[in-house]
Order: sequence, then C-alpha cells, then structure tokens
Amino acid sequence: MHSKKLPKINFIGNKEKIAGWICNNFPKKTKTVFDAFSGGGSVSYEAKKKGYKVISNDILKINYILAKAIIENNKSQLSKKDIETIFKGKPFKGFMFKNYSRVHFFPKECMELDLYRKNINKLSSLHKKALALTLLRRAMIRKMPYSRFNILWKKVVQLRDEDFSYKYYKRKRAYHNQSLKHHFLENLESYNTSIFDNKKKNIALNLDVLKAIKKVKADVIYLDPPYTGTMNDYYSFYGLIDNYILSKKIKRFKNDFIDRNEALRNFNKLFSSLKKFKYWYLSYNNQSYPNSNQLLKILKKYSNNVKVIKKKHVYKITGKNKKKTNTEYLFIIKNK
Ligand SMILES: C[S@@+](CC[C@H](N)C(=O)[O-])C[C@H]1O[C@@H](n2cnc3c(N)ncnc32)[C@H](O)[C@@H]1O
Repeated sequence: MHSKKLPKINFIGNKEKIAGWICNNFPKKTKTVFDAFSGGGSVSYEAKKKGYKVISNDILKINYILAKAIIENNKSQLSKKDIETIFKGKPFKGFMFKNYSRVHFFPKECMELDLYRKNINKLSSLHKKALALTLLRRAMIRKMPYSRFNILWKKVVQLRDEDFSYKYYKRKRAYHNQSLKHHFLENLESYNTSIFDNKKKNIALNLDVLKAIKKVKADVIYLDPPYTGTMNDYYSFYGLIDNYILSKKIKRFKNDFIDRNEALRNFNKLFSSLKKFKYWYLSYNNQSYPNSNQLLKILKKYSNNVKVIKKKHVYKITGKNKKKTNTEYLFIIKNK
C-alpha cells in the first residue's frame, strides 16, 4: 500500500473519508477496479494506492481531467519552468471575460483565467496540462462562495465582501479574494507530491456511464452515482469549469440521475448492463430516493447474491447545514 496523500480537491459528495473502508471490502484477488462515476477521484486514488489498475470515468470533463492528472498520470509533476510558462504574459479579454465577467468572477480574474488557459496549452505533455488545470480548478473553487458555480452573482459579491461576511457570518472568507495564482501556488506542492507510480497502466475516461460500461473490462465496478433527492446537480456545480477548459458553453448532460421520475428507470438500465463484471460495489445513503430497501429490491432483480454493509459518514455541506450525518450503505453484489 502506498502512503501517498490525496491533495485537497474539494468535491461535493466525495467519499474521501470512507474510501479506505470501501476499498478494504474489495475481494483479495482484485486486479482491476473501474470507478464508473469517479467525481473528485477519492476512491480511484485509494484503489491506486492499493496497487490496483484503476479505470476512472466521469461525464464531466473536469473530473476526467482530474483523473488524468492524479490517477492515470504516474510521474509528471509541474516544474518551476512550467509555472513560469503558466503565469507569463498579460491577462487578456478572452472567452471567460466575454462570458463570465460578473457572472462568477470579476473581469480582472476572468482575464487572468484566459491567460492561464492559453499558457497551459504550451506545457509539454497531456499529463502536465491536466495537472495544471486540476490545480486551477482548485484555485477557482477556493474563490467561489460555497465552492460551487450555481450561486447568483449578487450573492457572490456579497459573500466576497469581507466586512459583510464577518458581520453576518462571523467569517471573513478572505481566501475568496486571494488571487488565482496564490491558490495555485499554495496547492502546488501537495498536488505534485500526490503523483506516484503504482506500476499499473491506469486510465481516465470521459464518457456517459452506459457507454463506459460497454468499453471497460474489470473485476470490480464501483458505482457512486449522484444521489437522487440530495444535493447532486453536478452540471450546475462544476459545468462552468468544463466551459472554461473547452472555451465553449457545453450543454447539460442527460442521464445524470437527478430526476426523481427517471431514477428507477436509470437504475434498472444501469444494473441490467453490468453482467460482465463479477463484483459490483454501489455506494448509497439514507437521504436518497429510492430508499435503500427499494434499491435492494431492484438489485435483487439482477442478482441473488446481494450484501449490504453500513457506516456512519459525516458530509461537509456548504451553506446553512454545515454538517450532516448520514448512513452510508455499500451494496456488494457478487455475480457467478
Ligand atoms: C457522487 S459523485 C462521485 C463522487 C466520487 N466518488 C468522489 O469520491 O469524489 C457522482 C459523479 O457522477 C457523475 N455523473 C453523473 N451522471 C453521469 C453519467 N451519466 N455518466 C458518468 N458520470 C456521471 C457526476 O459528474 C459526478 O462527478
């Protein structure tokens, strides 16, 4: 087991605190783990540390890039010269300035983002580019109140006003006003040192889960879909970063598990396509729809070997409910 540490990612609904518990339940003979909804990469990273070949997939481009940077990438770090390249030159009025000034960031910050995006393309490898974008993701999120991009500008301005924030919330939140470069550099070392070689050819994919399932071969598939009925609209949380990376506005993705009416249909579709995997591990919690008993019923349509284990898990949620205690379920399915 490698002793490496996942850097600070800040991903809503991440499984960082229970990733060890999840991976410790994988069968001893496991060689390849497919993390089909990899998000902030916490389970993929733990599986990589345990020496498995890891295949990470997520529909959001930024989550794919994050997996490219810290899961697939076994060796590339950002050097001093790379940092000079990223921050060299004058901020200019590009895609971010034109589309997101006073929507998510102040105009000057958008111009800086436009410069950094252009410069990152000059880095010498895909893994370096991915690592730089992942660090920039972290910097962008540090500047956003509630760490997500579905907050109205009026509220952003209010919460970035340190006196207002202190008066009403007893927190200055000064980090929202520190520069993107400051946050990038502050996190650089922990991201660089999180890169390690587990001697496996790990892979990052950027596909809808049903397409990815068709492509991937693995002993274990780990499923952590957005939980219907909870805070789970990942497109609205992080889609802006995809737009930034691609310099174009992407459409909301379909089949994203947030619609209550679609949830049962989605789960049936998902489970009916998993036959080729011997072991399925599904994370679920007690706040979601369908509830765990209903989910168990659905699973039993597809396998007669379903086990459920439980653990208390405290989620950090931004906004009013600072912390929420949930019971986390891990459904374990063994196919013949
Ligand atoms: C609960 S999060 C995963 C969290 C992750 N286990 C972690 O520890 O950070 C669910 C993820 O599913 C992704 N997702 C939603 N719909 C998807 C789909 N149809 N195909 C692939 N990924 C999808 C979201 O972008 C989100 O990153």
